[in-house]
Amino acid sequence: MKISVVGTGYVGLVTGTCLSEVGVEVTCVDINTEKIESLKKGIMPIYEPGLEEMVIRNYKRQRLNFTTDLGESIQGAELVFIAVGTPPGEDGSADLKYVLAVADEIGRKMTDYLVIVTKSTVPVGTAKKVKKTIEDALSARGKSIPFDVASNPEFLKEGAAIDDFMKPDRIVVGVESEKAQEILSRLYKPFTLNGHPVIFMDIPSAEMTKYAANAMLATRISFMNEIANLCELAGADVNMVRKGIGSDPRIGSKFLYSGIGYGGSCFPKDVKALIKTGKELGHELKILEAVEEVNEAQKEKMFEKILRHFKGEIQEKRFAIWGLSFKPNTDDMREAPSLVIIEKLLKHGAQVVAYDPVAMNEAKKHYLGDSIEYARDEYDALADADALVLVTEWAVFRAPSFKVIKKLLKQPVIFDGRNIYDRKELREMGFAYYGVGVV
Ligand code: UDX
Repeated sequence: MKISVVGTGYVGLVTGTCLSEVGVEVTCVDINTEKIESLKKGIMPIYEPGLEEMVIRNYKRQRLNFTTDLGESIQGAELVFIAVGTPPGEDGSADLKYVLAVADEIGRKMTDYLVIVTKSTVPVGTAKKVKKTIEDALSARGKSIPFDVASNPEFLKEGAAIDDFMKPDRIVVGVESEKAQEILSRLYKPFTLNGHPVIFMDIPSAEMTKYAANAMLATRISFMNEIANLCELAGADVNMVRKGIGSDPRIGSKFLYSGIGYGGSCFPKDVKALIKTGKELGHELKILEAVEEVNEAQKEKMFEKILRHFKGEIQEKRFAIWGLSFKPNTDDMREAPSLVIIEKLLKHGAQVVAYDPVAMNEAKKHYLGDSIEYARDEYDALADADALVLVTEWAVFRAPSFKVIKKLLKQPVIFDGRNIYDRKELREMGFAYYGVGVV
């Protein structure tokens, strides 16, 4: 089976590579020549555990190819994934210009039947627009080549994307023809052998599923953050509450961790986009508006604790930040809570020195520049700092030597944004400890 994947961003590259791993002949397409040349040399545009080896292996086997020529990539292909970016426009809605430009090019260049599948997270109704764009491009050529559109949202988590793709909980596919369904079931057969289902449905439902899944998960997080804030006032421990409620199978124990707010490329963008879709369709999504509001506020909560501890006097104070990426195992800084905390600290005249095992380059290049200092390692960040602020729960930060930390810090103060440390132990050692949802 031969397919084309347009867009070598996060979703496209992981999708194309994992499909080539099971033997599909995949051509990944991107308009960025530099990116394509680097990929041929085995240089990844993103950090994702396990991806590089898989790309190199399948490129050598010639099952995974890279090109800038979309027209060539769809010759002899049965299916093409559109996996280009859908950045949020100013009003929060997903900007479809890249998706529709690809659809137009497909329409201008296709020569045989094709299934065109939207893989990027796109609002309900996008497949219809893709279909119309291709029809227009074909009729401009005076051709009537048959094709189908389909929707196949991804549910990959950054940092675990390869595993999520190879062993999916489920694969959701929206189709409107039997032929498209047959081709997509053939494509995904290797991933269903262990009983993971492909759930076929109509296209709008598939498009909606993706948003509903992310919105539900974001809701759980904001809900738990609200409970955590209440726990702090009521003298309860949110960790215990989480265990207490999570053992009810109707609730489930996953995704109930309170912290410093969700970030990343999906939740913030998708929650906004769904609110916008609701507005367009004449329905106000009140719960999601609150989810977003709570999340914004949560990103500032840890800073407020810092300010309170130092009685508002943080000018000239030095803060060590452990972790910059929005979560571990990724260099992604999009909507990262670290950005909010650091911005607030800097605005109040504090100095910031940060260490992140992977994301420091990303931070330097795109976000924080040289407004802060970057440390060589986690302990290096602590020298002469007035407090440690744990922002991202990378494995290297999980069991540090608190004796060394105490020696290095000017004052033994820890702000733990992810509740990963034992507050009793730390307090016994003489630390001032602040967590989330605990007193
Ligand atoms: C998410 C979805 O999980 C994935 O299915 C979808 O395809 C894309 O969006 P991702 O953004 O990579 O994936 O990260 P995820 O691990 O889900 O975490 C999202 C954010 O929620 C992070 O900021 C994380 O720290 C936060 N989070 C997660 C919590 O605050 N508490 C939790 O219990 C879980």
